[in-house]
Amino acid sequence: MKRLLALTAAAFLALPLTPATASPAGTPGAPSAGDPYFPGQGNGGYDTRHYDLTLDYDPASGRLTGRAAISAQATQALSRFNLDLADTLTVRSVTVDGRPASFAQSGSELVVTPARTLHDRRGFSVVVRYDGTPAHVLDPDGSMDGWIRTADGVYNANEPQGAITWYPGNHHMTDKATYRFTVTVPADRVAVANGDLVRRTSKGGRTTYGWNAREPMASYLATVSIGTFDLTDRRVGRYRVTTAVDPQARGDATGFAERHPPVLDYFSELFGRYPYSSTGGIVDHAPEVGYALETQTRPLYPRVPSESLLAHELAHQWFGDSVTPTLWRDIWLNEGFATYAEWLWADKLGTRTVQAAFDEAYARPADDEFWQTPTADPGGPENLFHDPVYDRGAMTLHALRGATGDDAFFAILRAWAREHRYGNADTAAFIALAERVSGKDLGALFDAWLFKPGKPAQ
Ligand code: TRP
Ligand code: ZN
Repeated sequence: MKRLLALTAAAFLALPLTPATASPAGTPGAPSAGDPYFPGQGNGGYDTRHYDLTLDYDPASGRLTGRAAISAQATQALSRFNLDLADTLTVRSVTVDGRPASFAQSGSELVVTPARTLHDRRGFSVVVRYDGTPAHVLDPDGSMDGWIRTADGVYNANEPQGAITWYPGNHHMTDKATYRFTVTVPADRVAVANGDLVRRTSKGGRTTYGWNAREPMASYLATVSIGTFDLTDRRVGRYRVTTAVDPQARGDATGFAERHPPVLDYFSELFGRYPYSSTGGIVDHAPEVGYALETQTRPLYPRVPSESLLAHELAHQWFGDSVTPTLWRDIWLNEGFATYAEWLWADKLGTRTVQAAFDEAYARPADDEFWQTPTADPGGPENLFHDPVYDRGAMTLHALRGATGDDAFFAILRAWAREHRYGNADTAAFIALAERVSGKDLGALFDAWLFKPGKPAQ
């Protein structure tokens, strides 16, 4: 995995690589995190620690004015470094440690040259001022991603590429950071983001919302969604539940906040403690967007979610959000786990047993195209959200459970959530952990379910 990553990054950079001993003047940070599915994502040479985003948005015109203050730490002596930002937005100024820096935008790369070399391992701060009319991007599978305009605001879902459409950052999931959002919108709209609601103040027909996301977050899980929402923020059971519901949303939103604690309590029993200081959801009316997203602490739905969709997105808070893959190829660690959690929740409700869910998925005939995609390698970014990632991923976990027994299986899931909390981990790490916790050699099982095309024997 590591070797492949290094080779891919090198290929993207077009050699020569940064010499091991950098000159005192520093060298440029890599323009990519080296993920083969999305080579434009992320950058090297630094780690972000915190984003302080101040946004002003006018839903009528679609104009966004933004200020991003980013705290980071250099991981090499840096003569310059890149941030990722779509060039539909115009950068007006950049400072580094308070001094004007020179910058250039090219495609989705924002290249920043500070007045002085940044020392290895030193913290530094970048402030980017920008504005423009954000436009969503289209993913390799054709779906809309990023700053997606709705009738009354924005449906802001950023997996896998959308973060570049609204703020500058290190937009690969391996660089997590905490966030603070300060968003000003017309007084008849609401701006909802991740984390805890910390401010709501109105002045001159505009309202400013403050949100504090205290736990580290991958940038594809950030959201600033805007609309005519009914906002509620209260304790329900053991949780601070903050919901934003568009009165136009399809479905029955009665008791939406109250539906969260039972699911979170059950998953806490199975997976370990809920990793965030608040929860809730954003229910928008977005018929043109076909998918929900597990935006951190507060999933985003294009309609009122069914019980299984709610369980899916809440399970992602452990699997995907807190423990995040290292490469996009390992997306089954998100979707297979969240799908398995849907099966667990349906079983708990008495709707359908996990075994029945497995049997239904497994009943696909052996010559079905479905079985040609191995769980752990969907083959390319256009297949990230295809059925095998979800259903074969969930079946892989059920096969594992059959081999280890219930006690070891849930101990594996809890250890996974605990040992990698707020971090990143890949498929190899999951296999190693499963073998360690169960004390079993699971090579043949994972080989058949994760890596080989074809229908695994039961
Ligand atoms: N991660 C989302 C979920 O399963 C799915 C998702 C994100 C998606 N982007 C997508 C699905 C684009 C289809 C198309 O909750
Ligand atoms: Zn999912």
